[in-house]
Amino acid sequence: MEFYDVIKTRRSVRRFLKRPVPDDVLNRVLEAARIAPSGGDRQPWRFVVVKDQQKKAKIASACYSQDFVAEAPVVLVCCAIKCSSGYEPWHDEAGRRDTVIAIDHLILAARNEGLGTCWVGAVHDKQVKKIVNVPAKVDVVMVVPVGYPASKSAFRQAQGRKPLKEICFYEEYGQKM
Ligand SMILES: Cc1cc2nc3c(=O)[nH]c(=O)nc-3n(C[C@H](O)[C@H](O)[C@H](O)COP(=O)(O)O)c2cc1C
Repeated sequence: MEFYDVIKTRRSVRRFLKRPVPDDVLNRVLEAARIAPSGGDRQPWRFVVVKDQQKKAKIASACYSQDFVAEAPVVLVCCAIKCSSGYEPWHDEAGRRDTVIAIDHLILAARNEGLGTCWVGAVHDKQVKKIVNVPAKVDVVMVVPVGYPASKSAFRQAQGRKPLKEICFYEEYGQKM
């Protein structure tokens, strides 16, 4: 697909076909995350690929009962090894920040493959950690269901995004063109 078409037509998908995601397709999507940039090239992201129906149901429940999560053939539990950057040792968001970049890579790659995804940030992290055995030094950042969309119009254009003139300033915050 053309790069800007991928970006423009990625939408949150919350209804999935039962059709499995072939391993080679899933690997290409994960590969897009693997090659993402990170501060100091730390690569703190880790992904748990979940296909087991019972585990998916428990994860959906730990996402504040967002049942659609369990309907996707694949659920990715996206994790970050806790770390801080050398420049900002006073906060430890660096691992999470890097991991969000990798997640965006995989979500766009999934769209390119015709797969639907949804960022699921409403996650009870302690519960999800237990379900997939995530160690204490690692955070659960996001849950991402992955599958072929049930609706043919899933990949429609975005509606209602703010115009550039509202979100971009020039030379100084608040200064418009
Ligand atoms: C960080 C983040 C967390 C989100 N968490 C959830 C969530 O828990 N459940 C959900 O259904 N959608 C969630 N979304 C999806 C947003 O609601 C969605 O991206 C937004 O409404 C724009 O719609 P679009 O993704 O179709 O463009 C989340 C999105 C982001 C970026």
